[in-house]
Amino acid sequence: MSKAMARERRTPLPAEPDDPISERVREVVTAFRSERGPLLPALHAVQEEFGCVDEVAVQVIADVFNLSRAEVHGVVTFYRDFSSCPRGRSVVRICRAEACQSMGSESLVEHATKRLGVAIGETASDRSVTLEQVFCLGNCALSPAVMVDGEVVGRVSPERFDSLISGLAPASAPPVTGSAR
Ligand code: FES
Repeated sequence: MSKAMARERRTPLPAEPDDPISERVREVVTAFRSERGPLLPALHAVQEEFGCVDEVAVQVIADVFNLSRAEVHGVVTFYRDFSSCPRGRSVVRICRAEACQSMGSESLVEHATKRLGVAIGETASDRSVTLEQVFCLGNCALSPAVMVDGEVVGRVSPERFDSLISGLAPASAPPVTGSAR
């Protein structure tokens, strides 16, 4: 452990007795305390209930598991399953790995960012949708592949993308009527 981590571990966490969200996070993660390797399942539970693992949750989790905030934050940022910021109600992931790249995923990314009005890794301001990149969805034979709310779709052209996101796009996004190309 680095000196900085050790120093941080000794720093008392702010008392938040009246914060119902902190209390709920504490309740959720304390249920995993007796498990071996409790951090990942606890993070999954928080992500599922709150849609993200924010700084408040990181503090509480660090406290419950006697870890430093840096350690918990490191795990949150390492795994793509966890999000530090609230994600959109829908999550659209575009595969940028080799097979999909060779079938036009880069132009699909360009199309998607224009169509949704967000960059990769961003969430629309109305929280309607989050756009993410992934590296292989296991659907290489049907490249380029996209995942929309957990469902993998293959051979996604810009036109098909538009129909997939129909109803998901932020209110400020251009209307979905044909390709933007
Ligand atoms: S490379 Fe895109 S699904 Fe495998």
